[in-house]
Amino acid sequence: MDVLASRYPDVYAHWRQNPEVFWAEAAADIDWYEKPTKIFDKDAGIYGRWFAGATCNTCYNALDRHVAGGRNGQVALIYDSPVTDTVKTFTYGRMLSEVQLLGAMLRDFGVEKGDRVIIYMPMVPEAVFAMLACARIGAVHSVVFGGFAAKELATRIDDAKPKVILSASCGIEGARVVPYKPMLDEAIHLAKHKPQACMILQRPQCEATMVEGRDHDWRKTWEHAVEYAKTSECVPVAATDPLYILYTSGTTGIPKGVVRDNGGHMVALKWSMQNLYGIDPGEVWWCASDIGWVVGHSYIVYAPLLHGCTSIMYEGKPVGTPDAGAFWRVIAQHKAVALFTAPTAFRAIRKEDPEGKQLSHYDLSRFRTLFLAGERADPPTIQWAEDLLHVPVIDHWWQTETGWCIAGNPVGLGALPVRYGSACVPMPGYEIDVVDEGCHKLPANKIGSIVIKLPMPPGAFPTLWQDDARFTQAYLEEFPGYYKTADAGFKDEDGYVYVMSRTDDIINVAGHRLSTGGMEEVLASHPDVAECAVLGIKDELKGEVPCGFIVLKAGVSRAPDVIEKEIVALVREKIGPVAAFKLVVTVQRLPKTRSGKILRGTIKKIADGDPWTMPATIDDPVILDEIGTALKGHGVGQS
Ligand code: COA
Ligand code: AMP
Repeated sequence: MDVLASRYPDVYAHWRQNPEVFWAEAAADIDWYEKPTKIFDKDAGIYGRWFAGATCNTCYNALDRHVAGGRNGQVALIYDSPVTDTVKTFTYGRMLSEVQLLGAMLRDFGVEKGDRVIIYMPMVPEAVFAMLACARIGAVHSVVFGGFAAKELATRIDDAKPKVILSASCGIEGARVVPYKPMLDEAIHLAKHKPQACMILQRPQCEATMVEGRDHDWRKTWEHAVEYAKTSECVPVAATDPLYILYTSGTTGIPKGVVRDNGGHMVALKWSMQNLYGIDPGEVWWCASDIGWVVGHSYIVYAPLLHGCTSIMYEGKPVGTPDAGAFWRVIAQHKAVALFTAPTAFRAIRKEDPEGKQLSHYDLSRFRTLFLAGERADPPTIQWAEDLLHVPVIDHWWQTETGWCIAGNPVGLGALPVRYGSACVPMPGYEIDVVDEGCHKLPANKIGSIVIKLPMPPGAFPTLWQDDARFTQAYLEEFPGYYKTADAGFKDEDGYVYVMSRTDDIINVAGHRLSTGGMEEVLASHPDVAECAVLGIKDELKGEVPCGFIVLKAGVSRAPDVIEKEIVALVREKIGPVAAFKLVVTVQRLPKTRSGKILRGTIKKIADGDPWTMPATIDDPVILDEIGTALKGHGVGQS
């Protein structure tokens, strides 16, 4: 590897030699009330805790510190919303006063340090203020992505037990207005835990009906707070206290509550902005994700603000709002130096404008780097983006659990040569091994389970919300001494990491992480379904989409296509539109091994039109022909 120009090998070696010295140096970039008594306390928590003994406040470091340090008039947030035809900017000073007010409003609802607040909101600035206001008063936020339906929201309400829920009357998906309030009401109805109050941001596109005694109008509450000059101070919290809980798909319908702490999170994110992404304070940075995902938490909100950047919040799509030039327009208009998005967004642009003609209308002269994550960046998409934009296109790999990049190309330290299909090299903090089932290290270029040597670095989750047992069982037990990523892949002879697929039933749909197990629970709840399976099949745009297979109960006489439509609607109702669940195939029986395991791998190959061989353990080979025929009937698989 040509690394002469990069400081990466030295920096990584420095970390390996003494991780605590490395992270203590990085921690000097954060303002602490009390400095840590131990950089790493190996006896605390499940695998140790970072910055034990320290106290801090994440909102202070994201806002107050910059206002005090001369960034009062610098724009902190640009809200760019083609769906409402709005562009608004908020300086650090203005953001601070909004967050101080909102912190006070939350306190008036009785929210105290350690209390949870659910934020179920579209991509509007108030959602960012809400996250920071929680951080300010020491409350723990849990943002729930707007594309999830009532049942998913209810599960999160019951797990997080929020004192207050913050929401809005609607989201706007392209040309469609999606009312949020009916989903919120239904979720509260379904949940056992009831919040004390909800505060609803009424958007002009859709007026929500309020529930007497429980719901409060955001604007009126704000006006009242302004009138009485309410404010809130930063509450010092332990570095190891939770900043937020973010639910992510697990292997069952019950999502995992990933916990993020305050101290380690700040240190890791601040370090990443300069060293990984190569961004200077004061520059304009754009992460085109959603605040409902971890990428949005880390790189729309926390990292750019901790670093004193201007962050763009985009309420729109890569195509259709209004056209495939939308991303170029935003970059040019706001002078963004880098963009971080999911490969699927670029596939969408490429599909609509294969020659990139839209680009000619915009000046991207300040644009330096494109970062992709959320799913494997397929080489054709990378090449297309490189040829069009003439900037480095950097794939990097991370998970909700880690909160920041595991393997990437550290542009700030000097970029390493790009190898298509690889997420590049481990970041400091991560020692990555590829192992077999017996936890033996595999040689270069051999595919196996990708694992991370414990302890996890600052920023990564210390546990699951009030479920240490599930954390240990799901992540630490299978490969002793390691964190199991549940991703499979390999390292090449130079240590470049290639992440190829999941080892569990998680699928990645348009960069969104979804559990097929969770979808199967919904299919199985339909009264006519005897048996079912859901698996991810190839999709040109979204990478993967879910495909359901159902076997009907004996005696069901209704037409299969009617039942299939009902099931599509049921998944949309129970999980949400984000599941992109549109395909159900009725089959006579499901192919299984003699021990009764459904042969998902083989079904997937048939659906994807990939070569497949008859599994030796199959109980009846004819079933695979039946599956192939049924898929063809739905226009899927090889002709
Ligand atoms: N609120 C309500 N509904 C939502 C939603 C939200 N916040 N986000 C998505 N949905 C809906 C969509 O409208 C769509 O509904 P439909 O079935 O009625 O069309 C459905 O959920 C699926 O959404 P999505 O998978 O995003 O598909 P899409 O066709 O709307 O857009 C892309 C496709 C590729 C343009 C889009 O997925 C995209 O921009 N992806 C970027 C991925 C990303 O940001 N990933 C985050 C990790 S980095
Ligand atoms: P999420 O927790 O939603 O961020 O999803 C994490 C999962 O997305 C990982 O476990 C991977 O399976 C996949 N993923 C994310 N980024 C990449 C990448 N750059 N290359 C390959 N897979 C990725």
